[in-house]
Amino acid sequence: MINLRDILYVRLGTRDLEGAQKFCTEIVGLQAVERTADRLYLKSSASHHAVCYFQGEPGDHTVAFDIKDWSQLGAALAQLQSAGVPCGQGTAEEAADRHVEAFIWFNDPTGNRIEIVARPHDAGKRYFPSRDAGITGLGHVGLCTTDPARDQAFWLQHFNAMVSDWIGPCPLLRVNPRHHQMALFASQRKGIQHINFQVAEIDDIMKSWYFLQSQDIRIVFGPGRHPTSGGNFVYFEGHDEVIFEYSNSDRHIVGDLENYRPRQFPLHPTSFCMWGSKPDIAEFRD
Ligand SMILES: [Fe+2]
Repeated sequence: MINLRDILYVRLGTRDLEGAQKFCTEIVGLQAVERTADRLYLKSSASHHAVCYFQGEPGDHTVAFDIKDWSQLGAALAQLQSAGVPCGQGTAEEAADRHVEAFIWFNDPTGNRIEIVARPHDAGKRYFPSRDAGITGLGHVGLCTTDPARDQAFWLQHFNAMVSDWIGPCPLLRVNPRHHQMALFASQRKGIQHINFQVAEIDDIMKSWYFLQSQDIRIVFGPGRHPTSGGNFVYFEGHDEVIFEYSNSDRHIVGDLENYRPRQFPLHPTSFCMWGSKPDIAEFRD
């Protein structure tokens, strides 16, 4: 069993680092902390970065989690290798690029690239964005899966992942008490389906809703409220058509975990929004 602590960063390929920087700093409210000829790092909390754009193919996505016990990284790699999962150890140069001490990578059965990190670098500086969207940190990702049941079984077999709720066949998975750090959404493709940043309160979501409209940003869902996590939300389309979400989900699953049962919601728009907002997102439609 590989024990993960939390989601740590995403890596996104782009052919337009300049456009990514403009959108993420001026619209999303992330802080650019480092820029080279082929890299852009953006932070949303005290850790070094939450998003790294690299010069490459849009759609080339990676999601990273940090491992609970840093001494177990080698054992995690051995477990994945013995199970026949495509995986490997990051080189020192690749670790430096990620601002971590060490990492391993693997592909999930859909082909999503996941990295497991030991000793991620702290920024040593506060998050201080130029646009105050109320962001408190990276919350979760929606990850595309070509077979939700198969990929759920994979995550539950190898990791400390638990199902918090289902929407249709799609599990919302947690590796810590927060309601979910990853949701697997049925799709024909692999890659990140949306990137969630947590914000402090509903006022931040509504202020952003007005702000995004004033900037002619395409809002693809919301404002609304998720019946699963209880969070208010708004989703909008960003650079390279990547969907970003702000939400303020504060549901934690604690206490009598033995008797906790995930709830089954139907694959229907009301399972994504209890207020009645209709998603303009392919994976959220029934
Ligand atoms: Fe979400």
